[in-house]
Amino acid sequence: MDTLSVASSSVKAALGQHPALLTLAAIFLCHRLLHNLRRRRSRILPRTRERVLVIGASSGIGRAIAHEYAATGARVCVVGRREQQLNEVAAECASLHPTPTANGATGTSERILHVVADFNNVEDMVALREKLENEWAGLDTLIVSAGVSALRPLLEVAGLEQRGGAFYPPHAAAEGIKRTVSVATAAIQGNYLGPLVSAVTFIPLLCATSPAPSVALISSLAGVIPAPTRSIYASTKGAALLLYQSLAIEHPSVAFTYILPATVEGDFRASAVDGGTVREADPSKHGLKRVAVAKRCLRAIDHKEKAVFMPALISRVGHYLYWVFPSFVERAAAKKYNYTAN
Ligand SMILES: NC(=O)c1ccc[n+]([C@@H]2O[C@H](COP(=O)([O-])OP(=O)(O)OC[C@H]3O[C@@H](n4cnc5c(N)ncnc54)[C@H](OP(=O)(O)O)[C@@H]3O)[C@@H](O)[C@H]2O)c1
Repeated sequence: MDTLSVASSSVKAALGQHPALLTLAAIFLCHRLLHNLRRRRSRILPRTRERVLVIGASSGIGRAIAHEYAATGARVCVVGRREQQLNEVAAECASLHPTPTANGATGTSERILHVVADFNNVEDMVALREKLENEWAGLDTLIVSAGVSALRPLLEVAGLEQRGGAFYPPHAAAEGIKRTVSVATAAIQGNYLGPLVSAVTFIPLLCATSPAPSVALISSLAGVIPAPTRSIYASTKGAALLLYQSLAIEHPSVAFTYILPATVEGDFRASAVDGGTVREADPSKHGLKRVAVAKRCLRAIDHKEKAVFMPALISRVGHYLYWVFPSFVERAAAKKYNYTAN
């Protein structure tokens, strides 16, 4: 008999001898089941009535999320700065589910919207909100997927090289420090201020017009586990994560979800605000699949899950391990990013 069979017969024997235990287990299971059913958003908001805004949908994870929602009949508004890519995404979404929506909306023009906008630009975001109010009379789901990468060690951005423990030149010049500030400012805009502007612009609209308002932030594992060469990226992603976690407490009627993926396939690193190069194993070969991240995101939003780590087990374990055994995780991170401190 294998270990599993031994364990299951011991549990059965214990429950047989203690009917009270059996009753308690049954009550617990029913409670969990009812709790999960009650939490399901689809009970009050069927997909075909759902109005979804995806900011950062012209490529990557946001594009895959837009496809998933469009395919199941939701109304989807895709947003980004690159018009041509957005036109393509809108056409793809429209072709995925061309049937009328449940509330009688016909054709694809109203169901799929695309808006060229920069999520750092307040006027763009206010115009986007007005469009959603006019076209859909509100919003149910806000997904903030837009973000920018930064890939170089901080002092390298400032123009310093480290050899044998010494810096060359020995100090950062004023010009180098200013360059570091402008790179950090671009990352703050792309990873922190954009999510902040999106939250301030859309939370009141979500609360006023949706029976089940929801906000999802595509964060990153880098926002909770530090890594070399990611000081600017990780700190700006971490700031946005804490912002949204705090907003979740300030707005309990809105369900907040945070997706924390490890490396994902695609061209994200090409947007690096510091012009850095990829140091880890090829993300397109070794990264998570965009579609898998998108599907997990929809499931998490539908079930009102809070933090979703991807891959689930290893990322969560890494997160906890960092607080009890940081040097182990630091070594692993240095290895992953092929980084040697000189
Ligand atoms: N790829 C990864 O390995 C990875 C891992 C963990 C977390 N993430 C996170 O996942 C999110 C999406 O990354 P991805 O892999 O899908 O990268 P991506 O393909 O480069 O997509 C980024 C999206 O953000 C949009 N965007 C960037 N700045 C914007 C701005 N100012 N205003 C409006 N839209 C803007 C881009 O559109 P436009 O350029 O057209 O504006 C694009 O649609 C990011 O937040 C990233 O931090 C990525």
